[in-house]
This record gives sequence, C-alpha cells and structure tokens, in this order.
Amino acid sequence: MKTTSKMPIVLIGFMGAGKSTIGKILSHELNCSFTDLDSLIEAQLNQSIPEIFELEGEKAFRKYEYQYLKQALEKYDIIATGGGILSDDQTFNFLKKQQITVVWIDAPFEILYERIKNDAHRPNANKKSHETLKSLYYSRNSRYNEIAFIKISSKISLRETLNEIKNIIFANDQY
Ligand code: S3P
Repeated sequence: MKTTSKMPIVLIGFMGAGKSTIGKILSHELNCSFTDLDSLIEAQLNQSIPEIFELEGEKAFRKYEYQYLKQALEKYDIIATGGGILSDDQTFNFLKKQQITVVWIDAPFEILYERIKNDAHRPNANKKSHETLKSLYYSRNSRYNEIAFIKISSKISLRETLNEIKNIIFANDQY
C-alpha cells in the first residue's frame, strides 16, 4: 500500500465497538502495521489490564496509555485504543494536536452493553450496572466527537465499515 500522509490511523470508541477487530483486518488488507494499545501495554508491563487496575489503579493505567500511545504513533500505521483513553486530559490534548486520522467506531449502546457486560477482562465493565455503563457511554461521546475526523457506526456490516475507512484514507491521499 502507498502510505498516506494521514497515517497513522487511530481507532477510538467505547468498549465493545470492534476497534481491535477492525484495525487488525484493515491492516491485513492494506498491508500495513497494526497494534492494539491494550495488548501492547500488557506485553510491555507483563501484566493484564485487570491486574494493572487492581495493583496500581486506573490513574496509573491512563499514564501508561499516554506513554505507550506516543511510542505506538512512531511505530505503527493503525492503532486501536482502549475506550477510556480520552478520559485523561493529557492524552486527549496530545491526540488533538496530532496530524493523524482519528476514526470513531460507534454502535448503539444496547449492542455494546451485550458485548461487554460482566467481561472480567474489562475492569470498567465488569460487575457494572446497565445504568452505570450507559452513563459512562454518554459521558464519553463528546470527547470522541471532538477528536474524531469521522464517526462510523458498527451497525453497518464489517465489510462496509472497512470500506468506509479505506475511502477516507484514499480520499485524503489525493491532497
Ligand atoms: C477501558 C477500555 C478497555 C481497556 C481498559 C479500560 C475503558 O479497552 O483499555 O479496560 O475505560 O473504557 P477496550 O475499549 O478495548 O475494551
């Protein structure tokens, strides 16, 4: 693939939106590099996300996200991020300034809820009520919206989602 001036592409959105799945397939189809930031952090620290939350707390996890996001932007073409990455002001302000393509993958809350409820690997979803997760979802939308170049609803098929992202990349490439 001809690398565009708008690489890297950063995928944002709530837990369960499909950022990692979409990023992985897209990177294969475009023959470019991909990382999932949560997996990168787990590999670097040799700890799972629930362990990091339990041992060091969410605030420490947000600092790791910031640190490894900066590294990932230097190394990878497509980066899937964790759903809470923009809740940290430093990361939010940093991402806002980057010359990159931020794609917001969204889905109706009820679909996301069914995918993430009581997921032991997601501390911010595990044992959380429907109401708590719903308000977390709505509270995060304004920051996703502020930073994203485009929003794609994963209500459409996976194929259509991938094609939409490709259209954006190649459209950008003409300038
Ligand atoms: C989180 C989302 C997770 C992961 C961590 C915190 C959140 O990533 O970063 O458990 O606060 O929304 P996914 O969006 O891939 O589930």
